[in-house]
Amino acid sequence: MATIIGSVTSSHVPAIGRAIEKGLQQDPYWKPFFDGFPPVRQWLSRARPDIAVVFYNDHGLNFFLDKMPTFAVGAAAEYRNADEGWGIPQVPPITGDPALSWHLINRLVAEEFDLTTCQEMLVDHALTIPMALLWPDQAWPVRVVPVCINTVQFPLPSAARCYKLGEAVGRAIRDWDSDARVLILGTGGLSHQLDGERAGFINRDFDLQFMESLVHDPKWATQFSIHELVEKTGTQGVELVMWLAARAALGDRVRQVHANYHIPISNTASGLQALEPV
Ligand code: DHB
Ligand code: FE
Repeated sequence: MATIIGSVTSSHVPAIGRAIEKGLQQDPYWKPFFDGFPPVRQWLSRARPDIAVVFYNDHGLNFFLDKMPTFAVGAAAEYRNADEGWGIPQVPPITGDPALSWHLINRLVAEEFDLTTCQEMLVDHALTIPMALLWPDQAWPVRVVPVCINTVQFPLPSAARCYKLGEAVGRAIRDWDSDARVLILGTGGLSHQLDGERAGFINRDFDLQFMESLVHDPKWATQFSIHELVEKTGTQGVELVMWLAARAALGDRVRQVHANYHIPISNTASGLQALEPV
């Protein structure tokens, strides 16, 4: 049966792509952010995942307001990104794992999740930036299965629903007849708001409590409605549901391998957390 080796959750600000392109990792603005990653990379090189299942939100590259699935699972042999208008470099194509994609799709539909299945899928900065942070040479050592959750156009799925999706993904992976070692990624958040009167809003206290809750009380944030999460974390802060889905996939008990929190990167409170099941 397949093994879940752990999770990495992180923010996904496009400006990080520009900083990587310009080699600004030691720049005073960027250093506290980039310094979070080497311990996670060392852990990954020991944990040797073969596949990454990535919970992320598309921002208008693959899905636009005219067609917006609540949950979409990639089932492509390869994923590419494209210019989204942020002016960041494209990354090399990422190999998919259609066998795991279809296993997840079959199991999730059997568990009454209504999915969109994507045999062609462009992936945006939410998927590519964390990948480039975890594997800076961009010679991707993992195949990828993208799981996209709508955080762009209301109504959004609740935090509790995203947690249940993550639990179902975890069960399906653990039941998969394969020797694969699977890493769960979740990308988005933490608190940020890019638009409106509260643009620039950040909530450090909430973010830190949220990160702590994922270790000891993982369902804590599922008590909040989406509107409460918008109030507490900003309109784009709701992307933190990806962290909930990733955490839920790990099962009951986890150990924190590493965490980092730094304010701000662009308009965003940037968080990073690696967890492993115990
Ligand atoms: C920023 C943050 C995001 O989550 C995103 O998708 C785009 C931009 C930002 O802070 O600049
Ligand atoms: Fe985003």
